Amino acid sequence: VTILRSATDPCWVGVALADLDATLGDHAHCEKKAAASAVKLCADHPDRPDLVRAMARLAQEEMQHFFAVLNELSRRGRTLPLDEGDPYAQALLARAGSGPGGAAGRLRDRLLAAALIEARSCERLRLLAGALPDPRLADLYARLAQSEEGHERLFVDLAHRHGGQGVDARLDALARAEAEIVAALPLLPRIH
Ligand SMILES: [Fe+2]
Ligand SMILES: [Fe+2]
Repeated sequence: VTILRSATDPCWVGVALADLDATLGDHAHCEKKAAASAVKLCADHPDRPDLVRAMARLAQEEMQHFFAVLNELSRRGRTLPLDEGDPYAQALLARAGSGPGGAAGRLRDRLLAAALIEARSCERLRLLAGALPDPRLADLYARLAQSEEGHERLFVDLAHRHGGQGVDARLDALARAEAEIVAALPLLPRIH
């Protein structure tokens, strides 16, 4: 059961497959940034050992995903493109930064925003898995989607453990914000 409040426009998968090199390039950056933000959470919260361990493991998994997507780019004679930024994640993190609750509220929001990004990535990787004509690549995307689903659950659990009061209400508000952000963005050959 996903925490998302909206389903991706069914037209997106056609757009993503029409320029698979661009989609793979963006996806590689998503995995790299997921690893980087896990490392940042370790750096920012050394006083929370279970969070540090969970993020150390997550960073390792996300780097494996990054490497897997780099390999796909390489098979296609491509290399990592320039990172053009992620307006989706930036908009969501901006909304997440404005919640109540001081430092605990900021950590709660950061964990919930990460859960939503994982959930949306999972949804879209699964759409790709169902539509990719190459069975090998479809299988890779099915496995990556399953992994991101686990990350969605991990971040929701961590938010409950470390987020103080009002986690469910805040998840509700941020999930609605996430759906608005997705609806306002154009359909592009990107993961978000
Ligand atoms: Fe990943
Ligand atoms: Fe992930």
